[in-house]
Amino acid sequence: MGSSTDMMTLRKSALDKLADTHPSNREPLAGLEVKLGDYLSAPIRPNEIPPALARAVSDLLIRDDDQIGPGAALVTGLLEFFELERARSFHQALFSAVWEVFRQRTVDGDPEKDFRLKTGTISDGAIPIELYGSSWSFKAFHIDRDALLFSHLYGPVVGFTGGELHLIDIRPYMGRHSLRFDDVFEWSDEPTDGCKPVLRSEHTQSALAEYGRTTGSMGPDQIVFVNNLPDTGVLHGATPVVVTDPESFIREYHRCSVKDLRLC
Ligand SMILES: [Fe+2]
Repeated sequence: MGSSTDMMTLRKSALDKLADTHPSNREPLAGLEVKLGDYLSAPIRPNEIPPALARAVSDLLIRDDDQIGPGAALVTGLLEFFELERARSFHQALFSAVWEVFRQRTVDGDPEKDFRLKTGTISDGAIPIELYGSSWSFKAFHIDRDALLFSHLYGPVVGFTGGELHLIDIRPYMGRHSLRFDDVFEWSDEPTDGCKPVLRSEHTQSALAEYGRTTGSMGPDQIVFVNNLPDTGVLHGATPVVVTDPESFIREYHRCSVKDLRLC
């Protein structure tokens, strides 16, 4: 990755090549769950991450020629160990630990200088509209533009229905149907510089049916990780949120992500 590489060009060329991959017969995104209880025992300090846990999550995320993981991971069972505030601390520490293992196995670069880890809380319905053209985070299936890896911990989540997270493995879909980037994707239309690949609406139903799965309604018991490297091809999206109780409505998620500072 050179210093002047453009992330949109990189994503387009990497996704174009997915048409040449051989679709596997495995169930899409199978086996992505990691049960926290298998790795932690109470009492636990949120900042102490067992190396075996970071490796287990990373194993699921990585997809290369030697190892085809689902490209996503769902860490479950947080409520057994943490209330939300401590769960967020744990999430941040886990993300750093997973990124360290993931980076060593997937990306070249100076760990101190070339990457930036970011953590923040996003509140649906209150996202500054100038950022993405909408105050709501759920939208058509897409791939985030900058993040190489990201994770979300949802909560509090009150006063609505819907908002279920879905993932699509677009790699075998493009392979099976010999589809190139322009057949499957368009670029998002956003007020900020740069755009992200968005699944064309005519492919939504078939891609979901063939290679999609839902992680259900996300809450403070789970953390979802998505490998968002350019050649991974795992899309994310959510069903529309219907606010049922405007007085109590809140849909927040704590997000960790990492970007490559050499890419623009
Ligand atoms: Fe996204």
